[in-house]
Amino acid sequence: MQLAVNVDHIATLRNARKEQEPDPTTAAHLAELAGAVGIVCHLREDRRHICDHDLLLLRKTVKTKLDLEMAATEEMLRIAIQIKPDLVTLVPERREELTTEGGLDVKALHNALAPFIAELARHEIPTSLFIEADLELVRLSAELGATHIELHTGTYSRLRKADEIQLELLRLRKAASLGRDLGLRVVAGHGLNYTNIIAFKSLSDVIEEVSIGHAIIARAALVGIDRAVRDMIELLR
Ligand code: PXP
Repeated sequence: MQLAVNVDHIATLRNARKEQEPDPTTAAHLAELAGAVGIVCHLREDRRHICDHDLLLLRKTVKTKLDLEMAATEEMLRIAIQIKPDLVTLVPERREELTTEGGLDVKALHNALAPFIAELARHEIPTSLFIEADLELVRLSAELGATHIELHTGTYSRLRKADEIQLELLRLRKAASLGRDLGLRVVAGHGLNYTNIIAFKSLSDVIEEVSIGHAIIARAALVGIDRAVRDMIELLR
């Protein structure tokens, strides 16, 4: 299982003082040097962390792959087409949320997502859909022309009881296996940390990559990003 690092919270820290540092681009560079296979950022409607300028700089400097998380809005479509990230991950977005709370309601949004994904594909931008580990949502994602799915691990990350954890891992495994059978590339993320990644790693045969932000940036604030990324990669081995 490989690691993509989300650098949003480097920008959160910078914006707390409305200063120039720390810089998400520098963090991305160091994360890549430490072994991350991709850099993720979420350009939110309210630009609360990553801003347009960060995205531009990341596009120019990321050497692995740049995954742009965004809502399926006209504004974001325009930006994605201009920036051409290596992957767009479509996420639901609510202004008042602290972080992305749930997966995309691919069923309700079917008619809006189909042309959106097609337009990205026309510009040779692959699309990942951030969804709950639900078989119907996986099937719909494939039908919609997504190239990837990102399974939401928020529920998994909050569980504490061993039997519940095993059940949730099974649910994730079934969804990931179906995704692979349908030709999708399967990644996962949200709430993963240095503790819960240990059991999660058992899904390495069906989930190729994890996208982790908060836990890595939080550790990086104390021990440095190089160490924080290497520690996570060591656990993923
Ligand atoms: N994947 C997606 C689609 C997300 O929206 C987020 C949160 O920005 C993450 C992964 C990373 O979550 P966390 O910061 O909890 O590691």
